[in-house]
Parts: sequence; structure tokens; C-alpha cells
Amino acid sequence: MRRNIIAGNWKMYKTTQEAVQLAESLKKSISLVQDVEVVVCPPSTSLLSVYEVIKDSPIKLGAQNIYPEKEGAYTGEISPAMIKDVGCEFVIIGHSERRKYFHETDELINKKIKLALSIGLTPIVCVGETLEEREKGVAEDTVINQITNGLVGISQEDMLKIIIAYEPVWAIGTGKTATPDVADGMHLVIRTQLSKIYSSVVSDSISILYGGSVKPDNIDILMSQENIDGALVGGAALNSESFSRIVQFKK
Ligand code: PGA
Repeated sequence: MRRNIIAGNWKMYKTTQEAVQLAESLKKSISLVQDVEVVVCPPSTSLLSVYEVIKDSPIKLGAQNIYPEKEGAYTGEISPAMIKDVGCEFVIIGHSERRKYFHETDELINKKIKLALSIGLTPIVCVGETLEEREKGVAEDTVINQITNGLVGISQEDMLKIIIAYEPVWAIGTGKTATPDVADGMHLVIRTQLSKIYSSVVSDSISILYGGSVKPDNIDILMSQENIDGALVGGAALNSESFSRIVQFKK
């Protein structure tokens, strides 16, 4: 069964006090939402404080990144067990900002996914093409390669625990949303690739989120598409009113 999931990626915004305020406000407005799983991903400094606010609510906690080792001398890094310890059930892996600014490769992303799964975290694995790749006509190939290489060696059983987020890089933070058709088309490409690598069991049951300038005024049409099961929201997740409206999408 494909689940509807709306996840908010707070990126490097919000001090702990601001994060707690946002979480408190979301907790009030999201308490009655049905048929959708809601996840917030604050910066690591506020994970525990936000967890304390949302732990008795339907809102779940995710981190924005992990380091792909269990523990060790990796100054400045945070392990999967550490984010689980502060209440996270989810972790965003392979976000395009990490691919771009921190040179994350599909190989590294694959390692992170496997380690996250091994300790019971749900990875939200991001894929998506740049504007240059789209203009060159290689958008689909790029995404297919990210899916194929990022998921190497992951069993069907584990694959069923993963969430995919398609985020065209040219649509992130730019105000340019992929048209619902373009987004739906790429979600179908991803589903087809998953059915080739795995089976129709996987392609029919995996949730694929769309991300890139999702706002209250475009969520309904996006969610009405056959292959879109939710959204990974950046800018509009930083405000309680807009994120709550996105969570209460109408198909
Ligand atoms: P945006 O970011 O909604 O601000 O475009 C989405 C994301 O990067 O996950």
C-alpha cells in the first residue's frame, strides 16, 4: 500500500527556540489530520527539543543527514544511532544540496541507506536532475542511474522500507515547480525502474514524494497525480500555516 507522506525539510534554518515554536504550532494544527504521515526534519541541534514537543502527536521526526559509519573518529559528524537516540524515525539521504556542496556520490549514498536501514531508520532517498541535464535531454537517464546505483545491494525486503523523493534540482528553492505532468512522468519512470530492478510488488507499494517549490497553492494538483504519493517541502515547511495547509491537501 502506497502511503501519503508529507515531509518538511527545515534545512539550516531555525535556532532551537524557533524550532520548538514551529513544532508547537504544527502540533496544534496537525492533530486531526488523517491518511497522511507527517514528518519534520529540523537541524540536528534541535532534534531532541522538537522530539519532546511532538512525541505525543502524529508528527514524526527525521534528520537531514547521517554519516555512514556506526561510530568513530569522524569529527563533526553524526551517526545513524545518534539520530535514532534523539527520536528520529526517518532520515533524508542524498539531498541534491548534499550531492552538490558536499560532493556526495551514489556510492556514499548507498552506504548511508544501508546503515540507516540496518538500525531501523526509514531513509527518504532523494534523486533528481539538474537544469543542465534536463536541457541536454538526459533527465530520465540521470534519475535512473541515481536509483540504480544508489540502491545497489539492497534487498527487496529492505527496499519496501525506503521512501523515494524526486526533486528536480532546478525546482528547489527557485519557485519553479515541475508541472504536475512532468513530475508524474518522472515518478512513473522511477516506478518502472524499480519494477525492473525488483518487482511489481516494490513498484506498486513504494511511496514516491515530489519536492521542489511545493506550496499551498500547488499541492492539491500535485497530489492528484497518479504516481505522486506526497511531498518533500523546503521553504514552505518553515511556516506553520503553509505547512499545515500542505498537509491538508485535497486530491
Ligand atoms: P523547496 O525545497 O521546497 O524550498 O524548493 C525542497 C527541498 O529541497 O527538499
